[in-house]
Formats: sequence, C-alpha cells, structure tokens
Amino acid sequence: MRKKLIAGNWKMNMTPSEGIALIGTLKDLVKNDEVDVCYCVPAIDIVPAVEATKGTNVAIGAQNLYFEEKGAYTGEISASMLVDAGVKYVIMGHSERRGYFFETNEDINKKAKKALEHGLTPIMCCGESLEQRQQGLTISWIREQIKVGFEGISAEDAVKIVIAYEPIWAIGTGVTATSEQAEEVCADIRKYLAELYDAKTADTIRILYGGSMNAANAAELLAMADIDGGLIGGASLKTDFGKIVNYNK
Ligand code: 13P
Repeated sequence: MRKKLIAGNWKMNMTPSEGIALIGTLKDLVKNDEVDVCYCVPAIDIVPAVEATKGTNVAIGAQNLYFEEKGAYTGEISASMLVDAGVKYVIMGHSERRGYFFETNEDINKKAKKALEHGLTPIMCCGESLEQRQQGLTISWIREQIKVGFEGISAEDAVKIVIAYEPIWAIGTGVTATSEQAEEVCADIRKYLAELYDAKTADTIRILYGGSMNAANAAELLAMADIDGGLIGGASLKTDFGKIVNYNK
C-alpha cells in the first residue's frame, strides 16, 4: 500500500516570518497519521520552517537544488546544504522552473541523482501544456520526461522518487484536471515505469497530482487508484490545506 503524500508548494510566497505564522496556523489542522505531509518552502524559509515544524508530523521540502556537489555556482544550493538544514524532500522540474529558468529533462535527471545520493526524496514534476494535450501529445511527452528523468537510476533508487503529474494548463488557473484525466496520465506513468523497471517497482513509486487541487476536489482526485497524493500550490497557503490533508476524514 502506498502511503499518500500531501505536499504544499509555497512557490515564491511567504517571507520567513509569514511562513512561521502559517506553520503555526496550520499545525493542528494538518494532523493525519494516515498521510505524509510536507511543505516545500522558499530556500530562505527552510531553516526557520524546519525549526517551526520540529516534533510535528510535517516534513520540510525545498523547491530546487543544484546538481553539483559544491563550488563556484553563485546563487545555487547544494544537496548537502539541504540535508544539513533538515530538508527531506526536494521538488525538481516544476513547469515554472522548466518554463522560466530553462530547466531540461537532463538537468532534472542530474538533480534527481544528486538528491538520491544525499538521501533526499526527489519530487520530480512532469506535465503537458494545453496545446500538447489538444494535439494528443500528452502521453508521449510525459513518457519522455519520465524516461530522461529516470535515466541511469536503479530500481532500488527509483522507488525513493516521488513523481508529480502537473498539467500546465491546470496550474494556478482554477481549472483542475478531472479525476479521470488525472488518473489516465498517472496510470500511464505507472505502466511506463513497469516497462522501464518492473511491476513491483512501478507499484511502489508514489505519483502525485498537482494543478488547482483544493479542499473541494481533493477527495475525488485522491480516490483514484494511481493518484498517491497531491502537490498543492495556492491552497497550501491557506487553512484549506488542512482540509486536503484530512480528505479522508
Ligand atoms: P496550484 O495548486 O496553485 O494550481 O499549483 C499547483 C502547483 O504548481 C504545485 O506545484
């Protein structure tokens, strides 16, 4: 049985003090032993967020890392820095980073390997644009993202990766994929993972859905067979996040 993961992606929101206040507000609302909970916070919020969530059920994630070990990479953050700060998860390949910062599938593969080497759990994002969906290219596009993202990663490591399927047209738009649309792609990702690895590996990997998930639609999406959690943007900044975490109550 795959344990569900409900992950908030704060994106570029919340100053450190605002973040601490939000963590305090959500503290009692996000208690649910049946799911894993994490907040992927801006880099500067990591240290105070780890401190503010100590002794709670909430883990802290980062929104990015650099794939080199250390050195002259001004502005970048390494895997060992994240680990030392107490981070557990790290998002990579979010469509905003692919779109605005030209992150490629190859970069994402290198980031996943570096994260795994340091014991961080990658949350590897994939997703198609509206145009690609309309042209019937969704499945082939996502398969390519997964293929390159997982290249050279053993089955033993692959099971530690969390995939987030986030259709770009559903992100921040208020347009959620229907549970059938989301399930169709998540099920195909699992099928493809079984081809790349084996059925057991594919059955172990958690696949999240992201894109306008909110308190009203979470339960239906999370009831789908191949959707193992959510990556939540806008609704993770509000008390609604507690309702999503407790979707099964
Ligand atoms: P929204 O929930 O705001 O649509 O964002 C989804 C997302 O991009 C999470 O990574």
